[in-house]
Amino acid sequence: MRKTWMKIMCLFMVISLCTGCASGEKNDKKKDSLKIGVTVYNQYDTFISSVMEEVLLKAQMKEEELGIKISLDVVNAGGSQWEQNNQVEDFVEEDYDVIFVNLVDRTDPSFIIEEAKSAGIPVLFFNRELVDEDLERWSGLYYVGAVTVEPAIMQGQIVIDAYRQNSQMDKNGDGILQYVMLEGEAGHQDSIVRTEQSVATIENAGIQLEKLDYGIANWDRSQAQTKMLEIYRKHGDAIELIIANNDDMALGAIDALESLGVQREQWPVIVGIDGTNVGIDAVKNGKMIGTVYNDAKGQAQALIDVACTLFLGKEVEEKYFRLPHNIITSENVEEYQ
Ligand code: GAL
Repeated sequence: MRKTWMKIMCLFMVISLCTGCASGEKNDKKKDSLKIGVTVYNQYDTFISSVMEEVLLKAQMKEEELGIKISLDVVNAGGSQWEQNNQVEDFVEEDYDVIFVNLVDRTDPSFIIEEAKSAGIPVLFFNRELVDEDLERWSGLYYVGAVTVEPAIMQGQIVIDAYRQNSQMDKNGDGILQYVMLEGEAGHQDSIVRTEQSVATIENAGIQLEKLDYGIANWDRSQAQTKMLEIYRKHGDAIELIIANNDDMALGAIDALESLGVQREQWPVIVGIDGTNVGIDAVKNGKMIGTVYNDAKGQAQALIDVACTLFLGKEVEEKYFRLPHNIITSENVEEYQ
């Protein structure tokens, strides 16, 4: 049953960059063909999809650069750690060279670590960060992600700059910004840090904030829309600022305002994180005051670079690869389109 599911998923999402690998080449294959298995926590997550698109592009470029074949099989864990464990077990049984894991539950990587370690197959965890102690359990484990606190500080900075340029953001003129926080998954390192540090950054700049409400929307646009509809019905025009842990949730808030028919001049200021294509469009058309670019391209490049380095039998000394962010506002949005 599990195998069948895996086959279906492979048919659905197999992206084989390897055109010339004939069967029966098993013995030679290791020398010139790198087989990477990838499991993602949720294939419908907009940011994760953008990382996967970039991984494919970087792999294609690397094939040309190194003259090797790279095949990537991407499967969706659909939010189940059990399913993801089975997927990794299958990758191990099928003798993949490297496995990329976007953990479903960042606190539960033990099965994957033990499976990979016993087979000697390196694992590159990405985006959903396991604790240091887990990553230290074997030398063949790596993490590729972002500098965790940076986007929160940059998001705070976007609000600070906007407020200094336009005090009308404080719609009722009471000297306090009344805000709503839209949070990603509970327990995710990015939700925790972004929720705390964006607010701390704004307050440290001397701007007073008052939290009117919050909603946990699990990075998801339609969940955020639902939460925002409830929140807006409660607080209406009193909301002056919406801080979202990612762009998709900021866009869900925009969907809610639009579906309620709130006039644009009454909208609270909205800020996101990720710099996905849809997020960038919202900055371009003025629906969001800004976002923070979460470097999907850089993370994809690091994944492919490390996989190839290991495949070529070279040593990788670092265990962590963290990519920096950039602020995107109306001033520089053209550069990102
Ligand atoms: C975050 C990203 C979110 C979501 C999440 C999934 O880094 O900002 O949009 O993709 O990862 O783990």
